[in-house]
Amino acid sequence: MAERVIQVAPSILSADFSRLAGHAKQAIEGGGTLLHVDVMDGHFVPNITIGPPVVASLRKAVDVPLDCHLMIENPDQYIPAFADAGADWISVHQETCPHLHRTLQLIKSRSLRAGVVINPATPIGAITEVLDMVDFVLVMSVNPGFGGQKFIPASLEKVRKLAAIRTAIGNSFKIEIDGGVDQNTVTDIVRAGADVLVAGNAIFGTGDPRLNTERLLKAAQEATLARV
Ligand code: DX5
Ligand code: ZN
Repeated sequence: MAERVIQVAPSILSADFSRLAGHAKQAIEGGGTLLHVDVMDGHFVPNITIGPPVVASLRKAVDVPLDCHLMIENPDQYIPAFADAGADWISVHQETCPHLHRTLQLIKSRSLRAGVVINPATPIGAITEVLDMVDFVLVMSVNPGFGGQKFIPASLEKVRKLAAIRTAIGNSFKIEIDGGVDQNTVTDIVRAGADVLVAGNAIFGTGDPRLNTERLLKAAQEATLARV
């Protein structure tokens, strides 16, 4: 069996925006291998965050891939701008895309990693038909909009089911999880089959982002060993 590679994706939503590049670099030094960028429009989710100019600045400041999570209505209108700004991974919510297949094609047409996101209330069945075209599936383990929320335990079963489907169809999409990932939840999350762990509050909330990332990654790696 191939060794599992677990990635920690620090979510800048909980970083100090007045020293964003510094905070991001600290988390990368601690082992973060992609940077999760939460884009919110105040319509699909009840919060407003950042857009392409910030992505362009981050692109100049760090070397890791930028994972842009679009929590916005009509993402097709903005995907080209995020691609131009330097996004490497782009994910869109199933709930915002009436023509999900076309939207994923748009992301792929820019040679980016394409992901689909499902909210806690959205079943896996809603994305079955696009699983063969995505590079990753992002399972929301909180309702999107804010950092620092409590992990919804039912998300674990969703990750397990997705991992089983992935094996059954012989596919290789990554399973990313977002919301409430911390030292208390990480072991179960990794054992359920997640590969990419988004963490905001656990990394940027209190303490040193570098050490926090190191600790989270270590716990995640230990969880994979315990599985064998
Ligand atoms: C929430 C965002 C998350 C958020 C996670 O809508 O998509 O990426 O930053 O924050 P934590 O890790 O604090 O739950
Ligand atoms: Zn996110």
